[in-house]
Amino acid sequence: MARSLRVAPEYIKKVRLALPIKGYATQESLAVSAGLALSTVKNFLSGKPVSYGNFVELSSKLGLDWQEIAHQEPDKQQHPYIITQERSPFITGPPIIHPRYFFGREKELKRLFDLLKRHPLQNAAILGKKRSGKTSLLHYLKNITRTPTVQLRSGQKLDWLPHPSNYQWIFVDFQDPRLGKQQRLLRHILGGLGIAVPTPCDLDNFMDVVSHNLRSPTVILLDEIGAGLQRCLELDDRFWDSLRSLATNYTGGNLAFILASPESPIQLARNTGHSSPFFNIFGYTTTLGALTEAEARELIANSPMLFPPEDVEWILTQSRCFPLLVQILCRERLFSLEDGQIGDSWRQEALQQIQSFTHLL
Ligand SMILES: Nc1ncnc2c1ncn2[C@@H]1O[C@H](COP(=O)(O)OP(=O)(O)OP(=O)(O)O)[C@@H](O)[C@H]1O
Ligand SMILES: [Mg+2]
Repeated sequence: MARSLRVAPEYIKKVRLALPIKGYATQESLAVSAGLALSTVKNFLSGKPVSYGNFVELSSKLGLDWQEIAHQEPDKQQHPYIITQERSPFITGPPIIHPRYFFGREKELKRLFDLLKRHPLQNAAILGKKRSGKTSLLHYLKNITRTPTVQLRSGQKLDWLPHPSNYQWIFVDFQDPRLGKQQRLLRHILGGLGIAVPTPCDLDNFMDVVSHNLRSPTVILLDEIGAGLQRCLELDDRFWDSLRSLATNYTGGNLAFILASPESPIQLARNTGHSSPFFNIFGYTTTLGALTEAEARELIANSPMLFPPEDVEWILTQSRCFPLLVQILCRERLFSLEDGQIGDSWRQEALQQIQSFTHLL
């Protein structure tokens, strides 16, 4: 059963107070900013259960430590790492949202944060095949610098930015069909910036309010931008021209875009019939491949049950250090150990499980 969490009764007041402090005039503006249903936000604010992912996302939007405000069963309160006891150590499919479960990509992270820690902020494109880890990297960029150390693995670097609390991060998932509507998307961005939505909420007014109000470094993460370009007719060249103009002319170097996609921005624009110069502003591109061997070993070592050394080597060889493949092979090994299986028969099943993702190799 999917894990759900609720705000502990003693924290409900604090959570509600955080709403105006963080610039959310209404519950709806928080819902729009988080890309969640209003009913989820209402449940969250009234101490009713919401899914683990939504709980973490809403807590982070309100600048709150989710572990602090979550209701915990009395017998679990002494354990600092509740996550490891209730969540699988190997996540095989959904993007990694919580930084604790993200491994490697040190080189990419260094370059990306270098572009963001100096003025003017600069744009970047994260490319990679399907399932290579693009969305996970976007979430990590957004979350790592503000995650309390107690929620991280020991030694995980979080001091990437000199003043992380000054930064604003907005995540746009273009696979969410609601964000293909121009007005909805503009509201989503304004909600994330804590800027009041103008009436009407059209492109001209959006440009006006953002250029007048955006004062702190802001990073807009555009995930699966290809879906936005293909499916969303309202996001036309004029829309993309305006975003470029905001970043380059009207926000004093305080606004950057980081996009994730299987294809380069220029190819994407060409393939979808767009000619906006927005797609030329991505001066840094990184293509996600395998983890380094050391990074993959760290992921394998995350297992709560020690793997025999020959299995570790086998996993490294078969996965060629691609994170999804490492995760799947580790999951299979862990299950077989937990079931007390003897011998190597688990390997055959494990190889079958990675069949659908061998395009990564
Ligand atoms: N840095 C990482 N650390 C650990 N696991 C990772 C990492 N990056 C990716 N993974 C693994 O890969 C899977 C897919 O990651 P993610 O969804 O981020 O990829 P994607 O490139 O966005 O995929 P898609 O093309 O389908 O959108 C995750 O479920 C996880 O198993
Ligand atoms: Mg993705």
